[in-house]
Amino acid sequence: MSEPTNYPDLDALLPRLAAIPTLGADALEAEHTAILGRKSGLLTAALRTLASLPVEERKRYGAAVNQLKGRFEAAFAERAEALESERRQRDAAGVDLTMPGRRRWVGAEHPVTKVVDEIVGIFRELGFAVATGPEVETEWYNFLALNFPADHPAMDMHDTLYLDAPPATGEPAGKLLLRTHTSPVQIRTMLASPPPIRVVIPGMVYRNDAIDASHLPAFSQIEGLAVDEGISFVDLKATLNYFAHRFFSPSTRTRFRPSFFPFTEPSAEMDVECQLCHGGGCAACKETGWMEILGCGMVHPVVLENCNLDPEKYTGWAFGMGPHRIALLRYGVPDIRLLLGGDMRFLERVGRPWGSGG
Ligand code: PHE
Repeated sequence: MSEPTNYPDLDALLPRLAAIPTLGADALEAEHTAILGRKSGLLTAALRTLASLPVEERKRYGAAVNQLKGRFEAAFAERAEALESERRQRDAAGVDLTMPGRRRWVGAEHPVTKVVDEIVGIFRELGFAVATGPEVETEWYNFLALNFPADHPAMDMHDTLYLDAPPATGEPAGKLLLRTHTSPVQIRTMLASPPPIRVVIPGMVYRNDAIDASHLPAFSQIEGLAVDEGISFVDLKATLNYFAHRFFSPSTRTRFRPSFFPFTEPSAEMDVECQLCHGGGCAACKETGWMEILGCGMVHPVVLENCNLDPEKYTGWAFGMGPHRIALLRYGVPDIRLLLGGDMRFLERVGRPWGSGG
């Protein structure tokens, strides 16, 4: 082109037209203003000069300016569209629809809670009610009413956690302590209502024990108590065998071994066949094929008398078992501390009992 030099030189704009497809969004907007802006755009200024040109010149130059303006407009529009589609592609790349969703944690009952609920549920079906009692007890309920002699080693500070506070007035005498078993609730139950009595008593108990693979200073127990006229050891064995078959498996073998507790006579320890080796002998059962699950016996006549019940009229049986220990047997857990650790890998593993595909 050969416009007179006093008019804006259109050829000088051609390199800028060629550069438009390389501009980013901000530069593109700035360039649009610089070329086509209403106030000071270069082509806008060129168009403004037309009025002062002679007619022939105006036609020729005007056509050239308009043509160039059209090419700029097209180039700006095309680049804007390209930038927009690039942006859309980038946004879509940020959302990967094939990516797995974020996992939500589903809560589950703690294995010990499950064991407690299941045990209580089985006894409830048999007609047992649920009773509870305080975790802070007096020596009388925890030991003396249960026929422990006053010098029994279980009452020693090495075994029992005592409180400094004096017992509330009206409570039977003796120091306050954290109950070492759920058996004091036997006393509270017998004092509260006359036979027939059939209760299960779940709760926490406390002993002055160091923590190791099989001991905790705080652990759960479930007590059972049945008192009525004509209750015998046969009732005890039949009920506990039924429980073992329901809780473990119908073919689980059981055995009763003579034992001693001050508050039962006779007393026994009940074993179930080892749930890991099923009697063959393994490390978990120390090669015996058996696992001890509870202590039990016929309620001692002195205990009945301490609760103002006539031992000539009433008899009863009682048991006590430890759900923490039973959870270890049931889930094959080698160390009781795992039950307190809160390790998700462990809790997820035992959250499903054997045989459910875990
Ligand atoms: N209280 C006993 C214990 O903690 C268990 C037990 C309860 C034994 C009831 C016999 C009858 O070891």
